[in-house]
Amino acid sequence: MEPHKKLLLANKSWVEEKLKIRPDYFVSRTETQTPEFLWIGCSDSRVPAEDVTGAEPGELFVHRNIANLVVHTDFNVLSVLQYAVEVLKVKHIIVCGHYRCGGVKNAMNRQDLGLINKWLRHIKDVYRLYQREIEAIADPMARWDRLVELNVYEQVQNLAQTSVVQRAWHKEGAPTLHGWVYDLTSGYLKEIASMPPGSSVADIYRFDYGDKR
Ligand code: CO
Repeated sequence: MEPHKKLLLANKSWVEEKLKIRPDYFVSRTETQTPEFLWIGCSDSRVPAEDVTGAEPGELFVHRNIANLVVHTDFNVLSVLQYAVEVLKVKHIIVCGHYRCGGVKNAMNRQDLGLINKWLRHIKDVYRLYQREIEAIADPMARWDRLVELNVYEQVQNLAQTSVVQRAWHKEGAPTLHGWVYDLTSGYLKEIASMPPGSSVADIYRFDYGDKR
């Protein structure tokens, strides 16, 4: 069988399974979506957002890119963010990285990969911010793991630095930002950062909405 046919076949049995449990499984979700979570994850095929969280269709609004980056000039992630926050009014935004991330690994190397250099450059910037801490770690695998964690931490900061998030914090008292890392070897998620609404943001990135501070 051609490999892609396997996917189409699996789709048929998936539909049958779902309908067996709930005949209105699909119909009940056709009108609208009201996800509570925005998931910003890595494109890596081993980190499927719904599978690792046990989420059903309709629960996660998902954006994935290489190494789960929130880049302040990327219209794609910013459009997803604005829609999720202002229209869907998600209560939580999760940035989920993962150990053994190829994007993070390549950012630590010197190899010229062409266009993707420009994307990985953002991870090199994270490395430079924490260079001392990272280079104090002797084991290369542990260094890689630590950069994965620091990258997630910085992407959560990047979210907090957007006007979309700050405006929503001011107007709605939401969303809460979370930074998680998925462990490919165990299947477990690890919480490494969280920023509740109104968390402090470095002054230069703070927008003024007329608050008395
Ligand atoms: Co990855």
